[in-house]
Amino acid sequence: MKNNTYKRITTNSLNEMKQKNEKITMLTSYDYTMAKIIDDSGIDVILVGDSASNVMAGHETTLPITLDQMIYHASSVVRAVKRSLVVVDLPFGTYQGNSKEALNSSIKIMKESGAHAVKMEGGSEISESIQRILTAGIPVMGHLGLTPQSIYKFGTYTVRAKQKEEANKLISDAKHLESIGCFALVLEKVPSTLAKKVSKTVSVPVIGIGAGKDVDGQVLVTHDMIGMTKEFNPRFLRRYLDLDNQISNAVKNYIADVKNQDFPNSNEQY
Ligand code: KIV
Repeated sequence: MKNNTYKRITTNSLNEMKQKNEKITMLTSYDYTMAKIIDDSGIDVILVGDSASNVMAGHETTLPITLDQMIYHASSVVRAVKRSLVVVDLPFGTYQGNSKEALNSSIKIMKESGAHAVKMEGGSEISESIQRILTAGIPVMGHLGLTPQSIYKFGTYTVRAKQKEEANKLISDAKHLESIGCFALVLEKVPSTLAKKVSKTVSVPVIGIGAGKDVDGQVLVTHDMIGMTKEFNPRFLRRYLDLDNQISNAVKNYIADVKNQDFPNSNEQY
């Protein structure tokens, strides 16, 4: 879909989509050029994810990325976007300390990037911070299930909440995040039956990644779904392009053309 109308997506629009049973689409973006293509194609939500730490900076985890780096990515995205709702991850270490720190980090993101909402990983343990951010009028998206900022606590990126106790905690966290005012939740890498239950239990949209089809929307990391990260092959990932190969072939062709003195030709010079 080429989008020419530019009717802005808001947190209310996402709620309406859930009511109407219309699935919500979300993809990540970290730069102007990609965000422009994705926004123009009609995506509902663009997530400036802290996955930028892996995808853009080559770190092993999401932990090293800083608040200023997230703001740099987010402001580049915001400059490109005419329609999508832009949500920015609060990076590790900018909200766990206390609620004042969480509020200050969120205000800095909103002021300096022009984004529309923030996302935070965790349940009841970060309740105070979420509530304080919400009192400043900043919409918060929750994130439960696999929470990559806690990788060193869990030691693995495997499916979460397979056991009853963890599943019950997740459901109770989802209800809690809804009750304090989160406008939506991301549910990452949990059994599809549990995700379905959460989506049916809470009234706010539940957007899944590796959480099956019975949720209110789907999110993927764009670089994964367009095939630029070929070492990353989780079961939940569907690749829509093989860009790694296509880029590599283009580069090889360019190298050959230059070496063979085929590029530039007489039409490609002044
Ligand atoms: O950082 C990110 O890209 C995310 C998505 C995987 C949901 O949090």
